[in-house]
Amino acid sequence: MTHCFIRALLRQPVERTPVWMMRQAGRYLPEYREVRERAGSFMNLCTSPELACEVTLQPLERYRLDAAILFSDILTVPDAMGLGLEFVEGEGPRFRNPIRGATDIHRLGVPDPEAELAYVPAAVRLIKQHLGDRAPLIGFSGSPWTLATYMVEGGSSREFRKIKCLMYEEPALMHELLEKLADAVALYLNAQIAAGVDAVMVFDTWGGNLDAEHYLTFSLRYAERVLQQLRLTARGRIPAIFFTKGGGQWLEAMADAGYDALGLDWTTDIGSARQRVGDRVALQGNLDPVALYARPEVIRGEVRKILERYGTGSGHVFNLGHGVTPDIKPEHVGAMIDAVHEFSPAFHRI
Ligand code: CP3
Repeated sequence: MTHCFIRALLRQPVERTPVWMMRQAGRYLPEYREVRERAGSFMNLCTSPELACEVTLQPLERYRLDAAILFSDILTVPDAMGLGLEFVEGEGPRFRNPIRGATDIHRLGVPDPEAELAYVPAAVRLIKQHLGDRAPLIGFSGSPWTLATYMVEGGSSREFRKIKCLMYEEPALMHELLEKLADAVALYLNAQIAAGVDAVMVFDTWGGNLDAEHYLTFSLRYAERVLQQLRLTARGRIPAIFFTKGGGQWLEAMADAGYDALGLDWTTDIGSARQRVGDRVALQGNLDPVALYARPEVIRGEVRKILERYGTGSGHVFNLGHGVTPDIKPEHVGAMIDAVHEFSPAFHRI
């Protein structure tokens, strides 16, 4: 029997709502911090298939999760394009060689995932061996737009002044960069699919910072281009999820892009989102990650409300509306997951 996570993405009947959590392998887990310490740096952790495999499986040992997600980072792709990724303590990601102008964009190559990024498919193969059929494995990438923001800003940004100026003043150059990124992302996801992932997710963390017109042209169009290039397996295309943080206003357009499921952040009511997208896509989300600071009884109540808002029938994958924060108590995560297991079967008995 196909796992309920995959069936929910395809809107096929399930006996309960599947649940996983963005950033489920991370610093809120003491066992993650232990391996992270041993690795020395975050990039050492990402580039060692053995360590990446170990931390990918950690949250599944602790909780009743319905999917594992490959332990890696979206910024490995620009790193392989020669930008030189560093993680500065307390500051986040930074590139040694950010994109400064036209020449940098013309010069960018599309990396071969089996060469510069070989540690990623190697980690996927190892994780699949250890995971067996306990749960499906999700592969992922950043969206072309979100990767471009980091590459042009040189790191995290509040205003996105550099990338937006490039987009407003030099749209042709912006398109050239996004085309290369769409090809790089598709090749990268295809290498993960060939190595055995069961579903893929494209993270568009910064698409929600655009106005409606530019969102469609510079973010959504390139996410669509990625999807069109995904390779087919013996069973056809594997399920694909698209998540634009802050994209709640554009769900109808997103549902037309062809992805099987859309991720929702916590600012959109999942019940109205379901009405708007109809039977075109499944929905994944959308508990506010900050709700996990509240007492377990409160967390359980919030989980129940989301299940009620979505209503009966398949097509819902329970998740947070964004990644879990590093100082959440592991028991609070457990309360959320247990509540989904306890309350959700009632929404699938017809
Ligand atoms: O979800 C998972 O468990 C899989 C692993 C995963 C990580 N990053 C591990 C990570 C995934 C899916 C990502 C995606 C990612 N990375 C996104 C898109 C999703 C989102 O959160 O919006 C973005 C924007 C990034 C870029 C990035 N990487 C940032 C902004 C940071 C935070 C820097 C910091 O120090 O807080 C990272 C680092 C990172 N990626 C960590 C983890 C567990 C923490 C680093 C550490 O352990 O030291």
